[in-house]
Amino acid sequence: MIKKTISQTGLTDVLLKEKQLYKPSAKTLKMAKIKNVPATLKAAQKDPLKFWEEAATELEWFAPWKKVFEDRHKPFYEWFVGGKCNIVHNALDRHMDTPVEKKTAILWESDAGKHRQFTYRQLHTAVNKMANGLKMLGVKKGDRVATYLQNIPEAAITMLACAKIGAIHSVVYAGFSGNALATRLKDGRVKVLVTSNVGHRRGKVIDMKTVCDDALKQCHFVKKMIVVRQNDDLVKMKRNRDFFYHDLVDPQSDICKTVPVDSEHPLFILYTSGTTGTPKGIIHVHGGYMVGVNRSFQWAFDIRGDETYWCTADPGWITGHSYIVYAPLMAGITTLMFEGVPDYPRPDRIWKIVEKYKVNILYTAPTLIRALMRYGEQWPKKHDLSSLHLLGSVGEPINPEAWRWYHKNIGHGKCPIIDTWWQTETGMFMITPLPATPLKSGSATFPFPGIEVDVVDSKGNSAPAGKGGFLVIKNQWPSMLRGVYKDPARYKKTYWNKIKGVYFTGDLAHRDKDGYFWIQGRSDDVLSIAGHRIGSAEIESALVSHPAVVEAGVIGKPDEIKGERAKAFVILKKKYKLSESLIAELKKHVRSELGPIAVPSELEFVEKLPKTRSGKIMRRVLKAQELGEKLGDVSTLAD
Ligand code: WT7
Repeated sequence: MIKKTISQTGLTDVLLKEKQLYKPSAKTLKMAKIKNVPATLKAAQKDPLKFWEEAATELEWFAPWKKVFEDRHKPFYEWFVGGKCNIVHNALDRHMDTPVEKKTAILWESDAGKHRQFTYRQLHTAVNKMANGLKMLGVKKGDRVATYLQNIPEAAITMLACAKIGAIHSVVYAGFSGNALATRLKDGRVKVLVTSNVGHRRGKVIDMKTVCDDALKQCHFVKKMIVVRQNDDLVKMKRNRDFFYHDLVDPQSDICKTVPVDSEHPLFILYTSGTTGTPKGIIHVHGGYMVGVNRSFQWAFDIRGDETYWCTADPGWITGHSYIVYAPLMAGITTLMFEGVPDYPRPDRIWKIVEKYKVNILYTAPTLIRALMRYGEQWPKKHDLSSLHLLGSVGEPINPEAWRWYHKNIGHGKCPIIDTWWQTETGMFMITPLPATPLKSGSATFPFPGIEVDVVDSKGNSAPAGKGGFLVIKNQWPSMLRGVYKDPARYKKTYWNKIKGVYFTGDLAHRDKDGYFWIQGRSDDVLSIAGHRIGSAEIESALVSHPAVVEAGVIGKPDEIKGERAKAFVILKKKYKLSESLIAELKKHVRSELGPIAVPSELEFVEKLPKTRSGKIMRRVLKAQELGEKLGDVSTLAD
């Protein structure tokens, strides 16, 4: 079945050779909201605050802001200061009693092909009921509510219900283990956890409730658990702690007031990996986030209001927050949620769904494109994909071969590919084409209007065209993170103190002579495995928590489908002997500490690891040796 393989090595060389410009089609240009991209960029650059203030007026506020931007407490920036709003008012309430009310808000397809849908009115009702249910369990403004759910409508309903009453949601990806869930519940001092009895994947039933029960053994401050019933299997429920979603929610009133909150009131915490073993709780707030997310979605995807839109991400990642739930609902369009996987039951599942629901905009990740490309173009050919008019990409650089396949076989040469570069921390697209931007395959093109991006050396000097460097953002933007939960020092150190005066993204990039940005990957030890962000340090600390392991060094290696995969170099304690069963046990251990996505595909047992004189493992040296590259500067190496 597998037809092709993709050579990913030398990606940068291939990118540098890409000279062809893909000009927008006449139809794309005709539809484009922004026809003159350079002029728009220039105007926004001249006065970004004016640009964002104008963007804010597209949404509804309970009370206007007194000041657009405040930098008194650098780097704790504030936006739309003094304003009162609620993102749920814009995502749902304001559509009531308008023609949008009757439109489909959420279309959902399950792993098994079951279907559910909600109009805007029905979703509004469901959210009100859930919000009342949360209130009944004692949830108040500012309290944290976590979810551990697959991609099902209740995931979106819970997020919206929290936001509606000013509670803060913390969505935990359902692929994480019970331990990883517990770490996040503890950091956020979460009051209520929402999960389901089971999940579904490739036709198999996955036990979710037991994972949560295990996590709660370490988290006694989580007072209540709400359980969505996904099937009729018996579930063990703890008295006075566990409630079935439907028992709690169905009897509630369908009226619930949306709480006006301060622009700077936290909307959610979302954990993301960094260079240490503990994930960072990234904070986003109502006001600036809704403005940035709405404007970027409307412009980059040319939203007119009648689209059926499908983002294949999971609500557990920022993409799911910003561009499955909040942006499409604020825009009043139909957002599709899919519980399953791309190649089950057959490799045409994605294309089948596009045809079935007449999807207009498909937003997905290079790893998915590469995986489906291997099955061959006969699979998309079985389906009518003519409803598509725009394609999106996110998560990692899209290699030109995958870009061209996507462009030709899915977009039939007519759809622009909007390659959006951004991060959990940025909340919204930062570098992205607009539909009228001439494209180069593999480049995310230019900064979004109002965003000032640069490539610099370690001292902050701009790099000349063609020369690589650190990707930084030189100004502020409304949907920027407001901090790391309970750790202001880490916020300053990670993002603002690496290079003076600018936001440090952690990515490497270069700009070509036409000003196009090319993202080359991370400068730090953060891996992107099938678009999932995992830190080397996190996997290492999971490994050393096993009694057999003294030390571990983890690096990323190029992978044809997943972009990257993890390899671990492990030093064993003397009394342990290398064996297949020990390898299996260590993999199992990482799986239970972090979850399946973090399990290294390769383990190598070594006597020693390259270290600096101060004892830090030099992963760079491990990587260079593994890939047969030059070692570079090794003057700090101890041995
Ligand atoms: C990191 C952020 C943003 C939602 C998904 C990931 C990489 C993201 C692109 C792109 C090249 C990309 C970067 C970034 N990345 N989009 N279009 N081209 N690289 O969010 O988990 O916060 O990861 O993903 O390395 O720093 P995240």
